[in-house]
Amino acid sequence: MTYDRMPHELTLPSGQRLRSFRLDDLDQLVDVINADLDHLRPWMPWAQEPATAESEAEFLKSSLRNWSAGTDFVYAVLDDDGAILGGVGLHSRPGPGALEIGYWLRAGAQGRGLATAATRVLAEVAASYDEVHEVVICCDEANVRSAAVPRRLGFTLSRVEEREPLAAAETGWHQVWTMPTAVVRAGWPD
Ligand SMILES: CC(C)(COP(=O)(O)OP(=O)(O)OC[C@H]1O[C@@H](n2cnc3c(N)ncnc32)[C@H](O)[C@@H]1OP(=O)(O)O)[C@@H](O)C(=O)NCCC(=O)NCCS
Repeated sequence: MTYDRMPHELTLPSGQRLRSFRLDDLDQLVDVINADLDHLRPWMPWAQEPATAESEAEFLKSSLRNWSAGTDFVYAVLDDDGAILGGVGLHSRPGPGALEIGYWLRAGAQGRGLATAATRVLAEVAASYDEVHEVVICCDEANVRSAAVPRRLGFTLSRVEEREPLAAAETGWHQVWTMPTAVVRAGWPD
């Protein structure tokens, strides 16, 4: 299943923008990842080695390809001045009828509710597709800060699966959090 009409830009209630990644994000993206590598390496498979212009150009090109193919939609989280605060995305990898949300923030952008707000906005986009019945968030069970995002929004911990660890601090116990889109459409739980 593929998705069209995905918005290229979304605004969080607190004013920051989610904007689809562009090729001209390259220099800033390399700098941001490398400045926060120690923060990202424990949990992000793509941050096990320093970012390079080549690795991030490939990421940006594949992001454009996947957007055109209608399978994956990754956004930069941008501050008022266009500074990249992190990245979030919607992914069709869970299979038909479900979209998965992923996120990372710069260390200095944590603690302001940005990942939670971005997840909420992306879940609402997912719920705008009649054929999507579930939003999914996956994280390693040791990644307490990541798990707090779906918990805060009222997702259910549906299952824990054993997987090959892909990032430095992962235990391999992979939590799968889910939220029915019917709940999002009806209004978020308190
Ligand atoms: C996972 C990650 C995005 C979570 O970031 P975060 O800042 O904890 O999450 P949020 O942006 O939603 O902010 C929540 C925090 O802001 C606070 N907050 C302030 N205003 C808030 C608001 N309006 N709404 C929600 N939370 C708010 C919350 O109390 C919470 O603080 P706490 O951690 O002291 O309890 C971040 O830790 C990260 O990038 N980690 C490295 C990469 C990673 O692990 N990615 C996920 C892989 S599965």
